[in-house]
Amino acid sequence: MALHRFPAGFLWGVATSAQQIEGARNEGGRGDSIWDRFAAMPDTIEDGSRPDTTCDHYHRWREDLGRLRWLGVNAYRFSTGWSRILPTGHGAPNPAGLDFYDALVDELLASGIEPFLTLNHWDLPDALQQRGGWAARETARAFVAYAEVVARRLGDRVRFWTTHNEPWCIATLGHEEGSHAPGRRSPQEALRAAHHLLVSHGWAVEAIRGLVPAAQVGIVLNLSPAWPASPAEADRDAARQFDGFFNRWYLDPLLRGRYPADAVADRIRRGHLASADLPFVQDGDLDRVRAPLDYLGVNYYSRTVLAAGPDGLPKAVPAAPREELTEMGWEVYPDGLDEVLGRVTGEYGVRSVHITENGAAFVDPAPADGRIADPRRIAYLRDHLLAVHRAIAAGVPVHGYFAWSLLDNFEWGQGFTRRFGLYGVDFATGERTPKDSAFWYRDSIAARAVADGPESCIARRKP
Ligand code: FCB
Repeated sequence: MALHRFPAGFLWGVATSAQQIEGARNEGGRGDSIWDRFAAMPDTIEDGSRPDTTCDHYHRWREDLGRLRWLGVNAYRFSTGWSRILPTGHGAPNPAGLDFYDALVDELLASGIEPFLTLNHWDLPDALQQRGGWAARETARAFVAYAEVVARRLGDRVRFWTTHNEPWCIATLGHEEGSHAPGRRSPQEALRAAHHLLVSHGWAVEAIRGLVPAAQVGIVLNLSPAWPASPAEADRDAARQFDGFFNRWYLDPLLRGRYPADAVADRIRRGHLASADLPFVQDGDLDRVRAPLDYLGVNYYSRTVLAAGPDGLPKAVPAAPREELTEMGWEVYPDGLDEVLGRVTGEYGVRSVHITENGAAFVDPAPADGRIADPRRIAYLRDHLLAVHRAIAAGVPVHGYFAWSLLDNFEWGQGFTRRFGLYGVDFATGERTPKDSAFWYRDSIAARAVADGPESCIARRKP
């Protein structure tokens, strides 16, 4: 067994998001978000649950901060609830909403924990959806106004700012596949939504830098290496297509100031665009989108293996036996994290990366003696942290790692059926119970190091 030490100054964190943990849907002046409306529609959430209460973090935040201190994290990634701060999307901010995050930030700083703030973790105010949502350019302007409100209030204390979390999920799951809020099924709207997310990112970067000169501003992308299921030409092309729309549709505009030509051609072929002359892009937009990033946030969970479907479209296929999948059906594949990190820094020249989410849902047993045994989650976290360690040793500038998540929470379309927490939550009582992974993470943080083990992926790595 060897101990792999991380550099001094590395951020060891956990991540959460407002909609998933706060609850208090109608309290403190909060307005509904698109997820409140979506969850109230029939057959949208796997277990029929609603995010009205979730972990009740709005009331229990002080005790949850105690958990952060116990873990010993030196950073905490959370999001501000957009509809808690701007209940109708426009106009005067809700003072109680701002006060909530103000107190949270103060308490984090008093605990020696760096606040790492995300502005848009998917909870668009429903009032803005009624005016077109992300498919409308006006929403991009509303986002910047929101960013300014938060930056004015918290910019004297918050250094790390993230504009959007995983724009692909908002655009594709929310507007093309309809499995996420707002539940639209229009590829054309999805393309518009993606662009409005990107352009609002660029505008917000500038606005935040204007208000908070010391800010480190970035965006969080969910990236996944795309592997062909076989060497056949059709499967290789399926992997290219998936990569084009999942990874490069965001990486290319953000880091190169243009949409990927092959992916644009794919969309034309599929009838989603009339020509390469993208109608939703206005003069100057792409220059704003490529505003230099202080860091790229990478959410990494798995790789994706693609085969050509009967219609020629990429189809994700299972690439591992059941025992190597998490409860999300995602393959446990830590080497993919090395691959993603190598790509963003090598191919795209990113100079600072934070792993803003990484974690796994498994079925956990009932608590016994005040804790929950979750050996598979420990192995998952350890093997991914070891991948980060390898990347750092190879010279990749990774500066932080945030485990998803502090608590079991409302896992979007899957409701409460998927548990990612370092703490288990009894959603009937709100009671939290630490999992063995919480003890393991705490020990690793204290040592600023991760120990490999005989069963770790290091032993399994392909030559
Ligand atoms: C990511 C989301 C996060 C959480 C994890 C499991 O896509 O950003 O909120 O749901 O997946």
